[in-house]
Amino acid sequence: MTEDRQRLRLAIFASGSGSNMQSIVDAVERGDLDITVALVVSNKTDAGVLDRARVHGIPFIVLDPRSYAEEEVYTEELLGHLESHGVNFVALAGYLRKIPARVVTRFKGRMLNIHPALLPSFGGKGYYGLKVHRAVLEHGAQWSGATVHLVDEEYDTGPIVIQEPVKVEPDDTPESLAARVLKTEHRIYPMALKIFAEGRARIEGRRVFVEP
Ligand code: GRF
Repeated sequence: MTEDRQRLRLAIFASGSGSNMQSIVDAVERGDLDITVALVVSNKTDAGVLDRARVHGIPFIVLDPRSYAEEEVYTEELLGHLESHGVNFVALAGYLRKIPARVVTRFKGRMLNIHPALLPSFGGKGYYGLKVHRAVLEHGAQWSGATVHLVDEEYDTGPIVIQEPVKVEPDDTPESLAARVLKTEHRIYPMALKIFAEGRARIEGRRVFVEP
């Protein structure tokens, strides 16, 4: 039986340094991940992720939702860019703006996010960057980790695709824990995308089953 699966054309949304974007692009360039990184979207003109896009010849756009008086106009423009680049899948990688509901709906089941903790712990609104790792240490949790999940209408609540634990060490600072979790992120985000690129994800309610 021939499979009629669409090649995955990915847009990566990022506001920061873009090290996760880099891990995805590296996996593609190594031949480990057979997708096209079609577009990088950022809300900040000085985001490190844009330099990485330039180096790799990946098209990018900067759209700051805050500079639009009406969210609807921003949403239309964003959807227009995604469409004109043939984007059929989205990976959020440290994107610090809420994704408009219409965009979430359009990419339902085809939009992932990575979070630097084991969801549902230490997630949700306000849990980003070092705040996450600080909260893990303050709570006295002995394990943290990274989670790749599908995006739904809320923050960090969608079905989990891959999760990997990272041990919290007694001498950890938020920075040292963040650095170890980030290494895990760089490994599991390309893995999660590969599952979707190969059509091996089966979503049943909140559960994501990965076919062999
Ligand atoms: C990562 O820790 C990711 O989990 C979170 O934002 C950070 C982005 O880092 N959502 P980078 O820009 O990919 O280096």
